[in-house]
Amino acid sequence: MPVSDHQMISAWDEVLRLSQVQAGQTVSILCGPHTDPLTLRAATISAQRAGAIVTKIELPPINAEKATSRDLLNYLGETPLTGNTAAISALKNSDIVLDLMLLLFSPEQMDILDSGTKILLAVEPPEVLVRTVPTEADRQRVLAASRLLKRARTMHVTSPAGTDVTFKIGEFPTICEYGFVEEPGRWDHWPSGFLFTFANEGGSDGTIVIDRGDILLPQKNYVSDKVTLKVSEGFVRSIEGGIDADLLREFMAAYKDPEAYAMSHIGWGMQPRCYWHTLSLYDRERTIAMDARAFEGNFLFSLGPNNEAGGKRKTACHLDIPLRNCTVRVDDTIVVRDGKVIDEAFQ
Ligand SMILES: [Fe+2]
Repeated sequence: MPVSDHQMISAWDEVLRLSQVQAGQTVSILCGPHTDPLTLRAATISAQRAGAIVTKIELPPINAEKATSRDLLNYLGETPLTGNTAAISALKNSDIVLDLMLLLFSPEQMDILDSGTKILLAVEPPEVLVRTVPTEADRQRVLAASRLLKRARTMHVTSPAGTDVTFKIGEFPTICEYGFVEEPGRWDHWPSGFLFTFANEGGSDGTIVIDRGDILLPQKNYVSDKVTLKVSEGFVRSIEGGIDADLLREFMAAYKDPEAYAMSHIGWGMQPRCYWHTLSLYDRERTIAMDARAFEGNFLFSLGPNNEAGGKRKTACHLDIPLRNCTVRVDDTIVVRDGKVIDEAFQ
């Protein structure tokens, strides 16, 4: 449904309040030609109402000749900030950056965060943003789960479709996303509501079955038949199935990069205001499908880069794949059973 200016501004008011934006702080709004005009207008008004000093920075897009779709996550690596020292300086001198363009996994982003600047990404359409305004309760729930994940050494995932895969974990940090940035140097994404870590290098072994109805991203497709991934020593070694497997194999091969097949982040969704079915209602170019990444009880795994968490891999190919109906065991504790989050596990 359409969103009123009033509703969008109120949503930003709440997100900026949770992000502790104060009068006199500098807020930079990073945008591109694809930025939603209502989101941009509302963010600007809300930041001004909070008493902040507001700057809009618009950068031209790049990578169109390398990507095979318009999706903002189709091709990672260089960003419009690469080599742009003027823009980087401005962002490093900001208290908070509202990223309505989409920086991700870039050294420039790490550099800006290291300076103490907060970054909040928000590129979903207005009606998704107003449905998923974050709450302090979202934060508390994800943090409770993270205390368990942080000290764990294995994650084991099974499903009725045939998934049976084990990840050694502990080499990389646990990252929580709950939709706002209350601390200096923090990055987050509105909407979200999930947590993840990365498998240790070489520490993933087993079988992952992407079942009928599970979602591939950035394809934004519900697969029509099972796709079976055989994983050993941290890499996907085979992709078998029908047409969906063929499409996935060719998509990955197009990057001509062996790192594309590495296991990347692994975790589970905890956002009750996001839904598995949302993507079925959308024109695929209207969304980056955060509902699919965040819906409660998914097992979300990823292939490709791990530089976001301090690893060495920075391949441009990045798949996010949320699975339904999985049971996720962290060390000896079941945290998701048959696609349902077990909150008692985090008490
Ligand atoms: Fe991802």
